[in-house]
Amino acid sequence: MQSTEARKIVIDTDPGIDDAVAILLALKSAEFDILGITTVAGNIGIQTTTRNAGRILALQDRRDVPVRAGAAVPLSRPGRNASYVHGNDGLGGVAFPEPLAAPAGDDAIAWLARTLDAADVGSVDILALGPLTNVARLVQEHPASAERLGRVIAMGGAIHEPGNVGPRAEFNIAADPEAADVVFRSGLDVTLIPLDVTRKVRATHAQAADLRDSDVAAAKISGELIDAYFQSTGGGESRPLHDPCVMLLALDAALFTCERLKISVDRTITGYAGSLDIDAAGGAISVAMEVDGDGALKLLFERLLG
Ligand code: RIB
Ligand code: CA
Repeated sequence: MQSTEARKIVIDTDPGIDDAVAILLALKSAEFDILGITTVAGNIGIQTTTRNAGRILALQDRRDVPVRAGAAVPLSRPGRNASYVHGNDGLGGVAFPEPLAAPAGDDAIAWLARTLDAADVGSVDILALGPLTNVARLVQEHPASAERLGRVIAMGGAIHEPGNVGPRAEFNIAADPEAADVVFRSGLDVTLIPLDVTRKVRATHAQAADLRDSDVAAAKISGELIDAYFQSTGGGESRPLHDPCVMLLALDAALFTCERLKISVDRTITGYAGSLDIDAAGGAISVAMEVDGDGALKLLFERLLG
């Protein structure tokens, strides 16, 4: 980030183990002025993702950041669930405090529109860590407000990499392909960070231990969250730190190499739903295709330990 003024952001999320690490990274980064957290159903149901957003904020005593619940279901198809990865509590069983306050509302999409209408054009970004249902509904239900957005940086999809919920489908896009198609075709300034990149950002056992052994709360609990990721993979290689890549690109774009691509989304009712193709008829977006994985991890750990 070049500007010295904090960048206004909204974090749209389905916490989620890696979402939690990403949100803690944002909370520890003065470059961000976090206007609020909007939640979406994804890894787990909307009640749990919303409670978890409040729990993560409580760890850092950030009662200044409002949480609003958004979409409980995708635009037009049945929802998915990833509790097999994130646990029934959505946070891998890691002990977080209870929320400091009840959610500020269940009107995330309307709140996003009000917030954008009140802000200078282009001054607010959405950092999207889950299915794109809330962002798509903002575009559909409040188009003039959506046009006032700065940029949308979203984790999702797979370009050349195999998928994680189907041969070529990644969870966030597969959970709501229709929403992804709406966002990609919206004309908004969208940057997508796919598995091609996030699978190159993985913590080792030793790095997780360094975090876990820290007396800095955000670092300690991030070490425990990453350990929980190990457990759900049988203890081999940690799962990729997918969602923190969104904050890392916002913090230091030079860590990533992006290409302007036209992307179409498979919206069939098959195991390929959510697959992405480079397609002249697709929506024009920016896609991160390379990352300095070591540099990304270094920045992540520096901030969490700071
Ligand atoms: O495919 C990875 C994505 O799906 C991440 O956002 C993770 O939190 C899950 O939502
Ligand atoms: Ca997520």
